[in-house]
Amino acid sequence: MIIESVLTTMDARGSTNFAPMGVEWGEEEIVIKPFLETTTFKNLEATRVAVVNLTDDVMLFAQGAIGNVQFSAVPAAVVRGVILEAACSWREVEVRTLDASPPRARIVTRVVHRGIRREFLGFNRARHAVLEAAILATRTHLLPADQIRAEFARLQVIVDKTAGLRELEAMALLNDYVRAREAAHA
Ligand SMILES: Cc1cc2nc3c(=O)[nH]c(=O)nc-3n(C[C@H](O)[C@H](O)[C@H](O)COP(=O)(O)O)c2cc1C
Repeated sequence: MIIESVLTTMDARGSTNFAPMGVEWGEEEIVIKPFLETTTFKNLEATRVAVVNLTDDVMLFAQGAIGNVQFSAVPAAVVRGVILEAACSWREVEVRTLDASPPRARIVTRVVHRGIRREFLGFNRARHAVLEAAILATRTHLLPADQIRAEFARLQVIVDKTAGLRELEAMALLNDYVRAREAAHA
């Protein structure tokens, strides 16, 4: 099963990177599949550790999908890295094997520590809709503009029915982003 996480990694000089990543979930092993051009891949190759953060705050996925962001974080317990303040729970992982075949690496990691910061609330449709919208926002260069517009319209209905303020704001951010991209390419 793929779980959508916010991955935190560090480069050799200690600068932190935050990126949404869908990871193949396991209790003892987690597989991370970053594209080779991502900072996440470069950091994992260089420092061989990461923190897999699980959060219900979809604003982080929205912001992470559309730009290079920094979020509030605290030091990890075992690996050299950081845990999101917004994390519900997290896993600290070390690289076991790294297959850098293009276009997307396959990095098998071992869980060396896990922790919980707060409760993960139950399913919310708006949060899932924002996650889907965030993924679409990372694919504006691959998908036709009408398809993106149609999918956003469908997802917006769900957001309008079931969102809290945070989800409404995250969806608005993604909407503005895809519109601006569309206008730039028109
Ligand atoms: C929910 C979600 C899941 C994602 N999963 C992946 C993934 O598994 N691999 C990947 O390379 N990019 C994935 N992305 C896109 C990256 O987050 C995006 O390319 C990011 O800019 C890479 O950041 P980095 O260069 O800072 O590592 C995902 C985006 C979202 C919104």
